[in-house]
Amino acid sequence: MNQRSASDQQSISGTARLAIVNIGQLATLADESDAPALRTGPRTRPRIGPAMRSLGLIADAAMLVENGRICATGRYADLRRQIPADATLIDADQRLVTPGFIDAHTHLAFAGNRAAEYEQRIAGATYQQIAASGGGIQSTVRLTRAATDAELIAQTRRHRDWLLRGGTTTLEAKSGYGLNTETELRLLRTLAALNAEGSVRIVPTLLAAHTVPRELADYRAEYIRSILDDLLPIVARDGLARFCDAFCDDHAFTVDECRTVLAAAARHGLGLRIHAEQFRPGTGAALAAELRATTADHLETIDDATIDLLRDAGVQPVLLPASAFCLSRAEYPPARLMIDSGLAVVLATDFNPGSAPAPSMAFTLSLACLHMRMTPAEALTAATINAAHSLGLADEIGSLVPGRQADFLLHEITDYRELPYFAAAPFRPRVFIAGREVTP
Ligand code: NIG
Ligand code: FE
Repeated sequence: MNQRSASDQQSISGTARLAIVNIGQLATLADESDAPALRTGPRTRPRIGPAMRSLGLIADAAMLVENGRICATGRYADLRRQIPADATLIDADQRLVTPGFIDAHTHLAFAGNRAAEYEQRIAGATYQQIAASGGGIQSTVRLTRAATDAELIAQTRRHRDWLLRGGTTTLEAKSGYGLNTETELRLLRTLAALNAEGSVRIVPTLLAAHTVPRELADYRAEYIRSILDDLLPIVARDGLARFCDAFCDDHAFTVDECRTVLAAAARHGLGLRIHAEQFRPGTGAALAAELRATTADHLETIDDATIDLLRDAGVQPVLLPASAFCLSRAEYPPARLMIDSGLAVVLATDFNPGSAPAPSMAFTLSLACLHMRMTPAEALTAATINAAHSLGLADEIGSLVPGRQADFLLHEITDYRELPYFAAAPFRPRVFIAGREVTP
C-alpha cells in the first residue's frame, strides 16, 4: 500500500488543552447512564423510547478538552474559572456544538461510479433489473478489481473526505466490491491504510457476501466455501474487520446462506450486521434476531412481528433513508413504530455507488424527519450515541461526556433542529477529532 504523500496531508492542528466557550447550545447526548461520567464508570446504555428525545442540552455552555479527551462540560459561567491559562480558546459565538456524526453503515471503498445507471433508472429501469443484467454491484466489482492499490486508496480517501466535510468523525465501512479473496482483502487493507492516517476513525466490516460474483453464478456454494475457508481465517488472523455483514435478498443470498456465513464469522470472533428486508419481508431480520446480530440494516419492508423479534434479541436497526430516497422509493422503514416499540434506532447514510451515492449525514437526518417522522432530537441521537453503541464504541465516542474522546462539531447554526430543517444545506461545521481540528 502506498504511503500518502505530503501534498495530500490533511491539516490537523490543535494543542493539548482546548476551551470551547460561549456555546449557545451544547448537545452533550449525556444521560444518567453516563454517571459517574468517567471512562471507568458503568457502560452507557443505548437510548430507547422517550430517551431518544433527550439530548442532554446545555445552554450558554463551555467545554474543556485535554489531551484529546473531554474533561468538563457545563454552563460557561460555572466553568469560566476552571479554564487553564495555557488553553487555546475557541469562541463558539453562540452557535451549536454536537458530537461528531457516526455513520454506522457505508460502502466507502470502491472504484468508479454508476452515474450511467442513474440515468438508466431515471429512464425507467429498476435497480433490480439493472442488477439482473450484469450491472449494479457487478459493474462496481469490475472497476474495483481493475483498480491499483494507489487508485483505490486515493478514491476511498476522497469519499472519506466528503463524509468528513459534512461532520462525520467515525464511520463503519464495508468491503463487498471485490467478491474474491484477493480483492476483498485489498479493500479491507485500503480501509486500514486510511484508518492509520489519524483522520476519521474507520470501523471495517467484511461484506464478501454482498452478491455472488458473476464468474461463480452457477457455483454459489463454492463462493461461500471460499469465504469460510480462505477469506475469514485471514481476516480474523490479521484483524482486518471487526464485523461481518451479508446481503440477504432475492438477488444476493438466501437466509440459509447468510446464516452459514455469519455463523462462521461469529466463530472467528467478528460481530454481526446484516442487510435485511430491503425489498421483501422475510429476508434476514428474523435471522438477525436468531444470531443475536449487533444490527439489522435497511428494513424498509419489515413487518410488526419481526420488529418485536429484533427488540427482544437486542438487535439495533440501522435505517438508511438516503437509499430509499435515491431509489425513488415510496417505502421508508417504519422508524416511528420501532422507536415506540423500544428499539435503539440508528441512522446511517449507506453511502455507496448504487443505491445511495449520498454522503451527507445531515441530509440523512432531514430524510429521517420528513419521511420517517423521527423528531430532530431522535434523529441526532440515532446518528451519534446510538450509532456508537452499534459499533461497540459508546464508552469512547458518541456523546460529550468527561473521559470520552473529544470528537465534536462546531456548527454554523445555533439550534439542533436546524440540522435537519435546512435540507441539503452546504454547511461546513468545524470538525474536531480527538481534540484536533481536522480539515480535509
Ligand atoms: O446497501 N443492498 C445492498 N448493498 C448496497 C448497495 C450496493 C450497490 O448498489 O452497489 C446497499 O444498498
Ligand atoms: Fe448497504
